[in-house]
Amino acid sequence: MDQQTPPLPEQRCVQGLAAQKRAVIAGTGSYLPETVVTNEELSKTVDTSDEWIRERTGIGQRHLAQPHETCAFMATRAAERALAASGMRAGEIDAILLGTATPDEAFPATALRVQAALGAGGFGFDLSAACSGFIYALGTAEAMIAAGRIRTALVIGSEVYSRIMNWQDRGTCVLFGDGAGAVVLRAGEAGAGLPGILSVHLHADGGLGDILYVDGAVGRSDRPGHLVMNGREVFRHAVTRLADTVEEALAANGLAKADIGWLVPHQANKRIIDAIGKRLGLPPERVVTTVERHANTSAASVPLALDEAVRDGRIRPGDLVLMEALGGGLTWGSALVRM
Ligand code: UT7
Repeated sequence: MDQQTPPLPEQRCVQGLAAQKRAVIAGTGSYLPETVVTNEELSKTVDTSDEWIRERTGIGQRHLAQPHETCAFMATRAAERALAASGMRAGEIDAILLGTATPDEAFPATALRVQAALGAGGFGFDLSAACSGFIYALGTAEAMIAAGRIRTALVIGSEVYSRIMNWQDRGTCVLFGDGAGAVVLRAGEAGAGLPGILSVHLHADGGLGDILYVDGAVGRSDRPGHLVMNGREVFRHAVTRLADTVEEALAANGLAKADIGWLVPHQANKRIIDAIGKRLGLPPERVVTTVERHANTSAASVPLALDEAVRDGRIRPGDLVLMEALGGGLTWGSALVRM
């Protein structure tokens, strides 16, 4: 459009809407595969021990997908539960945004397999940001709602990392699990104290791509690829960058650490979670921690933990929740939400 041309009335209307709308979390849901594998069981096939895994990561077990528990299957179950919690129908969803690093196929997007399974309309796409995939998808959907482009969205993180594990590499195969988590977003009014996403901050440093990557291609059954990680380097970046991004979120909203009700962190390592909780001055009981039971489920870890704490009544309407994640890319970011 010519920059000198004044906006049409309907364009002004969309811009007007932007100032008033906020993306509200209307419901949460999740899915975990039925099969649970403990550290003890893993130590029978790889040179590791329950003691090492617990001490270095806080992980005690992980859920691993059976063949029928595909990325789309788990995402659909999580989405159905989020929809039920929101009281909305699939037909009311304008967009499905799905964060995953382990889609079932190169295309169609897993989001569209979910759309078909739910009988939803609108549009949808997958988003690749590894463990930050949910935060990236949440930020993208939130921006579209705030801009008035859509009124509702399903935001999902779904991962089957068991399919990209090198089960001989004890440095990585003990760390990850499978699962999915989802939220339903709907447009609400913006205003002090009202529910909704207050801010999303996204970051990436492609120059650090080689410290955590998959050495193969999606959709290549002959060369599916395995996850490769320099754990010590990722750990170092995770602690500093996540601490910076949570402080960035507080500063952007004019909030103090004491204002945070709950931290819902990415569940990669208990030591990283504890370091961020400490930086925020939060007592451990205000930090939602699932890593002991779920291990690292990548893009699913934050919505899985959020759903658990909403369903067991810890996180209540009105609470201020800070979510954060860091993953391959490197990608990292945070989302601050009033529930
Ligand atoms: O979600 C994406 C983001 N990912 C992360 O945030 C992961 C960040 N990194 C980490 O969480 C940690 O670095 C790990 C848990 C991956 C590793 O912990 P670490 O304290 O950094 O251990 P390390 O890699 O320095 O290894 C220490 C030792 C090594 O042996 P030597 O060389 O000291 O003899 C490893 O070979 O531990 C050994 N080791 C193991 N031993 C038993 C590594 N993996 C295992 C294992 N069982 N599973």
